[in-house]
Amino acid sequence: MSASEEKFTRQRVYDIQTLTPNLFTFRASRDPGFRFRAGQFARLGVTKADGSVVWRAYSMVSSPFDEHLEFFSIVVPGGEFTSELSRLREGDTLLIDKQAFGFLTLDRFPDGRDLWLLGTGTGLAPFLSILQDFEAWERFERIKLVYSVRESVELAYQELIAGLTQRDYLAEYAHKLQYIPVVTREDHPGALRQRITTLIESGELERAAGLALDPEHSRIMLCGNPQMIEDTRAVLKTRGMRLALTRKPGQIGVENYW
Ligand SMILES: Cc1cc2nc3c(=O)[nH]c(=O)nc-3n(C[C@H](O)[C@H](O)[C@H](O)COP(=O)(O)OP(=O)(O)OC[C@H]3O[C@@H](n4cnc5c(N)ncnc54)[C@H](O)[C@@H]3O)c2cc1C
Ligand SMILES: NC(=O)c1ccc[n+]([C@@H]2O[C@H](COP(=O)([O-])OP(=O)(O)OC[C@H]3O[C@@H](n4cnc5c(N)ncnc54)[C@H](OP(=O)(O)O)[C@@H]3O)[C@@H](O)[C@H]2O)c1
Repeated sequence: MSASEEKFTRQRVYDIQTLTPNLFTFRASRDPGFRFRAGQFARLGVTKADGSVVWRAYSMVSSPFDEHLEFFSIVVPGGEFTSELSRLREGDTLLIDKQAFGFLTLDRFPDGRDLWLLGTGTGLAPFLSILQDFEAWERFERIKLVYSVRESVELAYQELIAGLTQRDYLAEYAHKLQYIPVVTREDHPGALRQRITTLIESGELERAAGLALDPEHSRIMLCGNPQMIEDTRAVLKTRGMRLALTRKPGQIGVENYW
């Protein structure tokens, strides 16, 4: 089969940054034909020693207008994909499906005033893509980024988040963003300590945000741990909010990572 007939392209890995033994970030070259909307994911392929290829979904961290692609990865001990991925070195080849996928994009919400981005662990990734693009900043009056990890060393991309509103093209919108880190298993200055679900139930999240969660104004994206997503949806349901579907508007968009 010729390269143009294949469903994927071969890209080069570079700029690998280790955050913890279980978390790392990396960049990959981007095929000029690879198009995506902020919030979508790619299918990445790694080749095992026996020559077979393993594929997994990975949200883009980078924005649709960046020349490169950036990803944020967990290392699952014994995981079929991440065992191979974490062995890759600068210059190695990564397969990337030619098509991008996913519905955790802003077109899920035709209206709304406040955008809440609630993520656990590597579920931060699509929100960074969304926040590096214009649309969210133009459309929403307020943006709350809530990022929950177990321990403070797992808080990734702190510099990128802090620098977002310093970027020339976002500076005029700087007042719209509030970043609310959550560290659940230790005290960390400036971070909330309870799970996102508990913080919503107790009202602590809204107090920290200075903003109410309500069906008219709030549009909420949930990404990461599937149990967090299920539990948060249940809490939000009691507040009159439900999943936004193509034919039935709602307040919530989700991406389960496993
Ligand atoms: C739409 C979508 C987007 C995704 N985007 C990302 C991403 O940007 N970054 C990323 O690291 N992973 C992402 N994932 C998960 C990723 O596809 C793989 O599951 C992950 O790379 C582990 O692969 P594995 O073969 O090593 O383990 P798997 O056999 O795939 O998973 C084994 C177990 O590891 C745990 N696990 C898997 N992924 C994660 C994770 N991300 N964080 C914490 N625990 C996990 C779960 O308990 C899972 O049952 C995404 C998944 C989906 C469906
Ligand atoms: N070996 C290591 O050093 C190490 C370190 C971290 C993770 N891991 C492994 O990696 C995997 C994923 O870890 P992770 O830390 O990325 O993901 P995680 O378990 O999803 O935790 C990330 C954040 O989500 C919160 N959370 C989990 N379930 C929730 C729920 N139902 N509702 C609301 N919030 C919820 C966690 O709070 P809580 O703290 O309250 O759970 C934590 O703040 C796990 O299987 C874990 O065993 C290994």
